[in-house]
Amino acid sequence: MTRIDNNPEGGAANAVTVRGLVKHFGDTKALDGVDLDVREGTVLGVLGPNGAGKTTLVRCLSTLIVPDAGTATVAGYDVVKQPRQLRRTIGLTGQYASVDEKLSGWENLYMIGRLLDLSRKDARARADELLERFSLTEAAKRPAMNYSGGMRRRLDLAASMIGNPAVLYLDEPTTGLDPRTRNEVWDEVQRMVAEGATVLLTTQYMEEAEQLANQLTVIDRGKVIANGGINELKAKVGGRTLQIRPTDPGQLGAMARAITEAGLDGVSGTQAVPDEGLLNVPILSDEQLTAVVGLLGARGFGIAHIGTHLPSLDEVFLAITGQKPTLQESESDDTIQEVAA
Ligand SMILES: Nc1ncnc2c1ncn2[C@@H]1O[C@H](COP(=O)(O)OP(=O)(O)O)[C@@H](O)[C@H]1O
Ligand SMILES: [Mg+2]
Repeated sequence: MTRIDNNPEGGAANAVTVRGLVKHFGDTKALDGVDLDVREGTVLGVLGPNGAGKTTLVRCLSTLIVPDAGTATVAGYDVVKQPRQLRRTIGLTGQYASVDEKLSGWENLYMIGRLLDLSRKDARARADELLERFSLTEAAKRPAMNYSGGMRRRLDLAASMIGNPAVLYLDEPTTGLDPRTRNEVWDEVQRMVAEGATVLLTTQYMEEAEQLANQLTVIDRGKVIANGGINELKAKVGGRTLQIRPTDPGQLGAMARAITEAGLDGVSGTQAVPDEGLLNVPILSDEQLTAVVGLLGARGFGIAHIGTHLPSLDEVFLAITGQKPTLQESESDDTIQEVAA
């Protein structure tokens, strides 16, 4: 495991400190000695496939379940010894919306405010304020069951913000969302982060981690397998894939051969994907990108579009562990219904 320290805050305190955390379910070691840190005012991305232990980690850190061994503190409170104080400092958004479908957006937020001991007046004011902030004022009176996926997720985020949490857990906040809705959620999270929130975000998407996180902890089967800044991790997994769409899809094969035969320094593994009309070229640097595109231009190939994309989670795992992630059959039924109260 590599440890790369590039704390942008230079010495800010840890909001979350986890050491040697262990949680078993029968024979399953859901957490097998996890260490991680989230510094105040930063976003830690916890990246891992289905079944890696992400939700178990979030549940331990929310005091919803008790770890078998190890220690964890959040905002200075111990998860085992000070659960009540700890719960007051956190907000939690699960992969599945925790809102009550029959209640309106406003009623959901008001109810949670009351559960958190706000006075009627304060609960009302907080509900209004958060609906406004998450662009839900117009839908405030409608039952949540009539909300779109994006509106629900925004209501869920709003609900997790009611108690003004010092630390926010987002457990796969965009899994299962369409790209447009995902962008809406990302915008909201980025706004919260800009305002100084400390966030522990779990995700299966490298792209999401890149958008939102400062630091990354990669976990697999309950173990931390890599730890560090996003750029360091990307460098480690070997950069990006250059995608080229030719004007004439019939030339894909000829283009792939031209690149392979040119033997450009460090460029290998070019693949034509006829189904998508794309050429995939793994690259490590901007110089290689320029060389590939220059070569194709010089040979007279027409290019309709070029783009680059980051490695997928599978590719990240392959680079770190030499194997694909151990995937579970399907999403476990780890619905988080509880609201931190
Ligand atoms: N309540 C539970 N009872 C039994 N096994 C569980 C329970 N919760 C999680 N697990 C198992 O622990 C492992 C980690 O699960 P989880 O933390 O939900 O992973 P992730 O959130 O990364 O998909 C999986 O093998 C899962 O099946
Ligand atoms: Mg999960």
